[in-house]
Amino acid sequence: MLQVRGLQAWYGKSHVLHGVDLTVGAGEIVALLGRNGSGRSTTARAIMGLVDCQGEILWRGRSILGRPTFEIARSGIGYVPEDRAIFPRLTVEQNLLLGRQRGKFGRWSLEQLYAMFPALGARRQTEAGRLSGGEQQMLTLCRTLIGEPQLILVDEPTEGLAPQLVEQVGAFLQQLQREGLAILLVEQKLAIALAVSPRALVMGRGRVVFDGTPAQLLADAGLRREWLEV
Ligand SMILES: Nc1ncnc2c1ncn2[C@@H]1O[C@H](COP(=O)(O)OP(=O)(O)OP(=O)(O)O)[C@@H](O)[C@H]1O
Ligand SMILES: [Mg+2]
Repeated sequence: MLQVRGLQAWYGKSHVLHGVDLTVGAGEIVALLGRNGSGRSTTARAIMGLVDCQGEILWRGRSILGRPTFEIARSGIGYVPEDRAIFPRLTVEQNLLLGRQRGKFGRWSLEQLYAMFPALGARRQTEAGRLSGGEQQMLTLCRTLIGEPQLILVDEPTEGLAPQLVEQVGAFLQQLQREGLAILLVEQKLAIALAVSPRALVMGRGRVVFDGTPAQLLADAGLRREWLEV
């Protein structure tokens, strides 16, 4: 469904992706792991057309490299960035309404999302900037879902969350996957990523250095030492 080949990316003169190869199949959850600075977020940004890049990015068989971000989003790729891009002065509900494509709701209604995340429902008229970090993360994820994506790129959704919320986010992602959504989950936390994803990629120095199952990754202490542990 998503095929990335030989992807290179730059910030100005700084060359940070050196040939990333990865695929995400329809309805698949894939974890993208790696240390700080390994290029995980840049990979997600490159897929969304937010950084200068070269190589090949095919989405449902068509090249999206070089397309504007709004068009990539409209073609079915949702993006939940690491900085929880909410509008703090707008209410929870106003933030969610901004996620609609062409002003319409599809599969996800506000009521369904509020039922899934009662904390958002209870605070629908509250300014989003007053929510906790975890709630803001859920809000960004819900706003993305309202746009009816077929694939979501979720960048460290569990960062800074209490352990209980981390599990809740993991369970929610699995529920979305069961309903047919494909997910590229950028994570730092090995345990949650491997619990949620049947396939994991590890990035190191701007490349994918491992692509396999959680069991294969857990069995390879050398690989973990070289590319994951701090
Ligand atoms: N806006 C930017 N301008 C210049 N360099 C950047 C920018 N964003 C990231 N970089 C650099 O690009 C490299 C890859 O960063 P990236 O954000 O993709 O890493 P990451 O794997 O997401 O790690 P983390 O989120 O933990 O920082 C790093 O060396 C980083 O310093
Ligand atoms: Mg990052």
